[in-house]
Amino acid sequence: MLVHFVTDESTKIPAIRAMLEPQYCVESQLLGTGNKKVTSDGVLMVDADLRKAAPVEQLKLVLKDLHCVSEKLFVVQSHLHHMVAQAFALGATAVVSRPKEVIPKLVQIEAAQRAAKSAFADLPSEITGGAAAFASMFAAIREGKLFMLSDTESATSEIIHGIEKNGLGVWLDDVRRYHHGTFQHCLLVTGVAVGFALDIKFPDADVKRLGLAATLHDIGKARIPLSILDKPGRLDPGEEEIMKRHPVIGYELLKAFPEISPEILDGVRHHHEYLDGSGYPDGLTAPEISDLVRLLTISDIFAALIEQRPYRPQMSRNDAFKILCAMEGKLEPSLVKAFRNVALRS
Ligand SMILES: [Fe+2]
Ligand SMILES: [Fe+2]
Repeated sequence: MLVHFVTDESTKIPAIRAMLEPQYCVESQLLGTGNKKVTSDGVLMVDADLRKAAPVEQLKLVLKDLHCVSEKLFVVQSHLHHMVAQAFALGATAVVSRPKEVIPKLVQIEAAQRAAKSAFADLPSEITGGAAAFASMFAAIREGKLFMLSDTESATSEIIHGIEKNGLGVWLDDVRRYHHGTFQHCLLVTGVAVGFALDIKFPDADVKRLGLAATLHDIGKARIPLSILDKPGRLDPGEEEIMKRHPVIGYELLKAFPEISPEILDGVRHHHEYLDGSGYPDGLTAPEISDLVRLLTISDIFAALIEQRPYRPQMSRNDAFKILCAMEGKLEPSLVKAFRNVALRS
């Protein structure tokens, strides 16, 4: 595995090389000396004084070009809480407090990357990128860490390009080969919502907005216990109550991001609302439910019905569309009609 080491002190470079080589291939970079090309396979390791403004600014420039590197390991002294907070604000995915903790951490990261690679084998890049963005977002939220919204936005844009190029049918077939239930669901909903928006000729900005709302719609599930989230089969009433908290949890998590528009927040909070007031969490009725939410709800229900799960047979797109048509009073009939083309086209 390649370790791309970035530091603000040239004297740290030989020490890190001596520690990591030959087990790892090390490429070093001194902050303020220009950027290097980094491949997505490696790990970025940062050891710099984050209390000083200059290295932090230089680091921001380096990190801007490093969206492709998913693992960013920072060495900071853990008792300096503001340094730890700064590391996560800069995009750290892991923090160690001493150089001797680096190798065990790298071993852990390498094992996780190997497992992720085999899970992603033979999947197209839109899915691997999208699923990886979901995985890191979910993991960060579970561990109470910050996550990079820009990674989620890039993953959504990649999904939009993939569907524009190859069509929704190819996307659905590919995604259903990916086994993680919640991530598969979010990828499917994003694909269906984007396919819907493209089909009804939404302007580009609205396709993006709906795509991002779909990508983030179930983010609150990252705080639902795995025993409920991954339970094969039906939830009992108590578990269902807990599960129903996810729209509000997602809304609360995301409202801290100033970059997220009110329409997207609305989509995250209200994608389980129905026009007749029978939905949750706020029991909204038709006049209070926006068009974006109406589109998202239809995409969400359809995607949930056609998911591939090991414990139940997969429903055909035709049967799933019939269920949408039968949800009279709950969904916007003109949108369901417009969705027919998206639902049934191969
Ligand atoms: Fe949901
Ligand atoms: Fe959902």
